[in-house]
Amino acid sequence: MRKKIVAGNWKMNKTLDEGVSFSDDLKQRIKASESEAIVVLGVPFIHLDRIAHFSDDLYSVSAQDCSTKESGAFTGEISSSMIASTGAQYVILGHSERRAYHEENNADLATKVDRCLSDALTVIYCCGEQLEEREANTHFEVIKSQLSEALFHLTAEQISSVVIAYEPVWAIGTGVTASSEQAQEIHAYIRSLFEEKYGKAISDDVSILYGGSCKPSNAEELFSKEDVDGGLIGGASLNSSDFIQIIDAI
Ligand code: PGA
Repeated sequence: MRKKIVAGNWKMNKTLDEGVSFSDDLKQRIKASESEAIVVLGVPFIHLDRIAHFSDDLYSVSAQDCSTKESGAFTGEISSSMIASTGAQYVILGHSERRAYHEENNADLATKVDRCLSDALTVIYCCGEQLEEREANTHFEVIKSQLSEALFHLTAEQISSVVIAYEPVWAIGTGVTASSEQAQEIHAYIRSLFEEKYGKAISDDVSILYGGSCKPSNAEELFSKEDVDGGLIGGASLNSSDFIQIIDAI
């Protein structure tokens, strides 16, 4: 049975105090919830240690990026081993905002993926097309290269520590959500790429999350689709009442 995951992505939001009080509130809500979803909080680096140690095992903690480098004179960078040392268990890699604003490419991401896996972190690997790519009907190709160039060098054992997040760029932070049919179509395609490369057992097990304006009003419909195993939630993860409703939609 593949895992159902609801992961929040706070992006560059919340001071340390705000993050701690959010987590406290969310913990009470998770305790009262009957959802079987694994809850992950993708927080800024400064929150990792506190939020991880404060979790009471009710949620896991994720970084939102890591360096391509192992250690050394790279001012401002944070390595995967530093992330692992905080108690975080996940790292979001390849988010479209990192690809757009920091020019991350699939080759950089392949290196980051290797670093995270060697530090026993689970990777939430983001892929997704821009609006022009969908309009030009090249979205399948784009997703295929995002996956094959950054992930498909991994062994079958390594790939089992990777979760995929399909996030159409035109749906992120825009209020426009992919329809559940559009999401299902791409998720099934991603699973078929995994099957081609790694076989059926592994493709059946990979969790594929949807991200892009997922909110309480559309989460249940999106999560009802066969190949949608949860969500990567940006804006709606900043408010614990919205976020728990999405968790409960699993
Ligand atoms: P959004 O962001 O839910 O605010 O659209 C999703 C994401 O960027 O991961």
